[in-house]
Amino acid sequence: MGKKSIVSILCFILISFTPIFVSAQTCDEAAGTFTPNSLYEKNRLLINSTLASNVIAHAGYFNDSIGQGPDRVYALGMCAPGAEPQACSYCIQDASDSLLGKCLNQTDAFVWSGDEFLCLVRYSSKSLFGVLTLEPKAVFNNAMSLREENQKEFDSVWDGLKVRMITGLSSSVRNNLSSSSSSLSLYGKNYAKDVAPVPVYGNILVLMQCTPDISSKDCSLCLEANVDYYKKWFHRKRGVIMLRPSCFFRWELYNFSAAFDHINDPLPPILPPSKSPSAANLTNITKKDKMVSGGIIAATVVVIAVAIVLISVGLVMFKRRKEKQDIQLSSELLRLVV
Ligand SMILES: *[C@@H]1O[C@H](CO)[C@@H](O)[C@H](O)[C@H]1NC(C)=O
Ligand SMILES: *[C@@H]1O[C@H](CO)[C@@H](O)[C@H](O)[C@H]1NC(C)=O
Ligand SMILES: *[C@@H]1O[C@H](CO)[C@@H](O)[C@H](O)[C@H]1NC(C)=O
Ligand SMILES: *[C@@H]1O[C@H](CO)[C@@H](O)[C@H](O)[C@H]1NC(C)=O
Ligand SMILES: *[C@@H]1O[C@H](CO)[C@@H](O)[C@H](O)[C@H]1NC(C)=O
Ligand SMILES: *[C@@H]1O[C@H](CO)[C@@H](O)[C@H](O)[C@H]1NC(C)=O
Ligand SMILES: *[C@@H]1O[C@H](CO)[C@@H](O)[C@H](O)[C@H]1NC(C)=O
Repeated sequence: MGKKSIVSILCFILISFTPIFVSAQTCDEAAGTFTPNSLYEKNRLLINSTLASNVIAHAGYFNDSIGQGPDRVYALGMCAPGAEPQACSYCIQDASDSLLGKCLNQTDAFVWSGDEFLCLVRYSSKSLFGVLTLEPKAVFNNAMSLREENQKEFDSVWDGLKVRMITGLSSSVRNNLSSSSSSLSLYGKNYAKDVAPVPVYGNILVLMQCTPDISSKDCSLCLEANVDYYKKWFHRKRGVIMLRPSCFFRWELYNFSAAFDHINDPLPPILPPSKSPSAANLTNITKKDKMVSGGIIAATVVVIAVAIVLISVGLVMFKRRKEKQDIQLSSELLRLVV
């Protein structure tokens, strides 16, 4: 087994696990704090303990509030359309728990999370329902840049895709995508995923989602804000992730989500004939936006997987080398004897 094959195994593992796992708990430092062990915290814990089952019971979207006056906690839980109930429940539970663990005394916090399908959990001291909230935001970008000579051509494909997606959001027929009768599909509103082939780079894959409680107009505003931010700060980058309380935006040059499993696009996507992106070309989750106090927990799975592979590869190679040495030794002995 050569070095090359080890590298390709590692790359395969990285591609299999990293691209779809997004998780960044964002604590809103501007919204206010509560004292530990207060009624506010107790109410937050109460919501946490039932949020996942409530989201499942309400077809993938649920908002809740518990308490009175300043101790009242509002919360929202949501899974992307098409998520299986089991995956949704796990995602919400994990997201909510991680949020409570990270945002210890901030009244407002949110997290977009998911290893297969996206989910969102938000807590706030103010009513969330139907309110467009743009800040705070978390932004991640691929460190790799497009080649300058390709930028113009690339932009025209990208912009066409964007227009198609944002106009498509309000007509929710296309987004009423249930892959199976058991999946959660009631809230297909304010959700769009799309693919477009682009010269040189293969495919552009884009996922956009707002919470379904805000209007289509507010949803467009939120997503346009993401697009503007991307164009302003990360125009030449090969992938961007933006997380806001009201909307999610991610585009890549590789397939990063199971959401692209059953993509029923009017233009059938032409899959890149090229190889999968190497680890170096993936959008790494590293903190970019200083407004965010949230930490990033994403690499654990990868680290464990890589460690397992490294250890097993190491063991196999060690064993082989030993065997080889033994064989060489015995042939030398043979020669000596002869
Ligand atoms: C919130 O927690 C931080 C760090 O844990 C602490 O420095 C700060 O004083 C706390 N604020 C309040 C109002 O309890
Ligand atoms: C939140 O709820 C989940 C599921 O009931 C539970 O496992 C977890 O411990 C809770 N988190 C906290 C901080 O209490
Ligand atoms: C969410 O909250 C709003 C206002 O508080 C309420 O009208 C609506 O029924 C709630 N939706 C769900 C799914 O709980
Ligand atoms: C979406 O699907 C649900 C269930 O299949 C159906 O009741 C609803 O009318 C559909 N909505 C649209 C806009 O097609
Ligand atoms: C994208 O990846 C998912 C697994 O993460 C896979 O199920 C799906 O078929 C892929 N989609 C495309 C278009 O390759
Ligand atoms: C990764 O990026 C490098 C540098 O731009 C490029 O040459 C290579 O083709 C890319 N690999 C893939 C698989 O996209
Ligand atoms: C992503 O992280 C990997 C491992 O740390 C690194 O080798 C690679 O260059 C990074 N890629 C980008 C695009 O920053």
